[in-house]
Amino acid sequence: MERKERIGVVGAGLMGREIALVFALAGYQVLLADQSAEALEVAIARLREIVDKGIARALYQAGDKGALGRIATTIDLADFFDRDFVTEAVFEREDVKASVYARLDAVCKPSCLIATNTSTIPIAVLASHVGAARRRNFVGTHYFSPVSRMKLVEVVPGIETAVKTVEVAMRFCRDVGKTPIVIKDVPGFAVNRLLHVLMIEAVRLVEEEVATPEDIDAACRLGLGHPMGPFELMDLTTSSLCLQAQQIMFDAYGERFRPRPLLKQRVQAGYIGGRGKPGWRNRDSNCDSS
Ligand SMILES: NC(=O)c1ccc[n+]([C@@H]2O[C@H](COP(=O)([O-])OP(=O)(O)OC[C@H]3O[C@@H](n4cnc5c(N)ncnc54)[C@H](O)[C@@H]3O)[C@@H](O)[C@H]2O)c1
Repeated sequence: MERKERIGVVGAGLMGREIALVFALAGYQVLLADQSAEALEVAIARLREIVDKGIARALYQAGDKGALGRIATTIDLADFFDRDFVTEAVFEREDVKASVYARLDAVCKPSCLIATNTSTIPIAVLASHVGAARRRNFVGTHYFSPVSRMKLVEVVPGIETAVKTVEVAMRFCRDVGKTPIVIKDVPGFAVNRLLHVLMIEAVRLVEEEVATPEDIDAACRLGLGHPMGPFELMDLTTSSLCLQAQQIMFDAYGERFRPRPLLKQRVQAGYIGGRGKPGWRNRDSNCDSS
């Protein structure tokens, strides 16, 4: 089914490219932007792998290999002049996001909504980087990795976000097969607050030698029905990202999010996990956990 609204995504990294894919699979024409043609080529190649493996196809009725044909690419944000809904998924840096918004605000039509996939920067702060007239059309849409498989989106209004903008963002989320929930603009939103309480206690259990990372992962998978244990998840997303999130929530909420000393020490020593780095479970320094 072809849909008429024109979608834009800025940032073709891990998150942005799969956000583009879920919209294309749902029948939308998508324009995906990044800083270089090479980054866009890599992104499309990764999406082709996902579609070919049928990972996304199995989940979306509209999904087919033709979905990639609905994704056009550009390195020039001026091409976003006709977009109706643009999702920003560039680096998690306020200055980088601010420069993208300044450009989008200048080229996009007044009715265009801008959504950010930030995980840690307040939506109200990011909204301050668009003009006063656009702020009602600015909203947070926090997806989860891998976007083609994770069904939740936290929809986060800023101070001036219009009710209509939230409704439209929720409708887009549902159209692409997601379940949106509305969350207040607080540090960590809801999911990361829940997750990091678990992560912090998991590291504490290892510090106290109550159990090994492997056994705690088994406990979460087999005893709580989680698809993946906290140490596997830290190795996948990196312990440094986990520490960064906990530091932000510690600043906001105090003691209950204080990062554990063992996590800090391991990050400082380079045991962060991720591609090619040793982590909690990938102890081999030549490992590739991705
Ligand atoms: N990785 C996750 O699990 C996750 C989950 C939820 C939200 N997020 C958020 O999503 C956003 C993107 O994260 P990611 O993991 O995809 O990052 P990433 O580093 O994989 O991708 C970011 C992309 O943005 C591009 N980019 C940077 N500046 C740009 C610019 N000025 N114009 C166009 N493209 C630009 C980069 O070239 C890169 O391809 C961040 O705000 C992050 O906090 C990430």
